[in-house]
Amino acid sequence: MRTKLIAGNWKMNNTPSQGVALINEIKETANAASCDVVVCTPYICLPAAVQAANGSKIAVSAENMHFEDKGAFTGEISAAMLKEVGVTYTVIGHSERREYFAETDKTVNLKTIKALENDIVPIVCVGESLEQRESGVAFDFIAMQVKLALNGISAEDAKKVVIAYEPIWAIGTGKTATDEQANEVCAFIRQQITALYGTDVADTMRILYGGSMNAGNAAGLLAQSDIDGGLIGGASLKAPDFCTIINAATNA
Ligand code: 13P
Repeated sequence: MRTKLIAGNWKMNNTPSQGVALINEIKETANAASCDVVVCTPYICLPAAVQAANGSKIAVSAENMHFEDKGAFTGEISAAMLKEVGVTYTVIGHSERREYFAETDKTVNLKTIKALENDIVPIVCVGESLEQRESGVAFDFIAMQVKLALNGISAEDAKKVVIAYEPIWAIGTGKTATDEQANEVCAFIRQQITALYGTDVADTMRILYGGSMNAGNAAGLLAQSDIDGGLIGGASLKAPDFCTIINAATNA
């Protein structure tokens, strides 16, 4: 049985004090939940977020990190820096980073390896564009993204990886994949994991859905056999909505 995971990706929203206020509003619901709860915050919010979440069930995640240990990489943040402030997860390869910041399958792989080396759980994002879905190459594309992200990673480490299926056409558009569409792809990703590592890893690995998940559609998505949680953008910024999603995961 996989423990469900509800992760709010704040993206470039919330100042440190706004982030603390939001964490305080969701704490009680998170503590009562049977799922894992994670907030993914901008770098500058991380120390305050860790402090605010201290003693609660909420874990704090970065939204990105660099793959080198240290050096001349102006503006970048290393895994050791994240670890020292108490960060335990990081998003890797979000489609916004792939699209706007030249993230590639190679850097996604290097970052995933580096996160695991530092005991940080990588939430690796994959997902097709509308054009890819309409031209029938979505499954091949996602299989490639998954395989390249996990290149060189042992079975033991792969069990710790979280994959988030986020169809690009559903992100921030209000256009959610149907329960069946989302589950079909998450099940397909699990098949790819089985082919790469066998059923033990595939049965352990958590696969999330992301893309306009909200208080209204979360229960249906989270009830699907292969959807182990959600990576939530817009709806994670509103405490009541995020709490409804956390409760939907508890009741799924
Ligand atoms: P929305 O929930 O705003 O569509 O964003 C999804 C997402 O990109 C989470 O990483």
